[in-house]
Amino acid sequence: MRHGLRLSEYPKRLALLAVLTATAALTINPAPAWATTAAESDTPDRWLLDAADDDTRFERLEQYLGGFSAAMWETKARYVRVHEALAIGNRALALYHWEKIGSAIRGGYLKRPARRANADALFLDNAWPEAAKAFEEGDDQRAWEAFTRARAACMACHVAEDVAFMNEQAIFTELVAPSTASDD
Ligand code: HEC
Repeated sequence: MRHGLRLSEYPKRLALLAVLTATAALTINPAPAWATTAAESDTPDRWLLDAADDDTRFERLEQYLGGFSAAMWETKARYVRVHEALAIGNRALALYHWEKIGSAIRGGYLKRPARRANADALFLDNAWPEAAKAFEEGDDQRAWEAFTRARAACMACHVAEDVAFMNEQAIFTELVAPSTASDD
């Protein structure tokens, strides 16, 4: 056959195919160095102690601890609890979660310093302490008013940080103060 392969060509072509397949696999799943050995270790639960060196350990920790979105994940969970606490008139519980929201956001910009300016200016320097004070000292109405201002501050930061789509979700559209809800 004119276009048929001679037998002697097969090994070369197979070798090329193997190289191409391996390259494709690497492109699709480029496991970074810090992630490669834990699962292969005899004791995979020692994912830090069994790492080759401290650089690898720290890289693994950095990856595992995540960036700003990890802080926002905690912020969201606690924000829901704050709303819930205010709804049952438990301002001490609201304050508890509110303080941890402050720490979570500071922890977030420890990892992603570019977020700090807006986080401080739009939230931590004003709306956050005002709400903490209202939860601690105020009555229910003052607490809800402070919550509403803080909610607006969360949303303003999302706009400033170019993630305005974060504001179109239930924690912002549905978890509002009772008076606002009845105004709708
Ligand atoms: C720095 C300003 C800033 C402030 C203040 C802020 N956020 Fe965010 N938020 C962000 C950014 C930026 C993201 C996207 C993070 C990313 O993708 O790395 C985000 C993401 C989120 C997400 C999505 C997280 C996820 O992965 O599911 C939620 C929910 C959220 N924010 C809620 C809040 C709430 C509630 C508050 C107020 C208590 C708040 N945020 C205050 C900047 C902010």
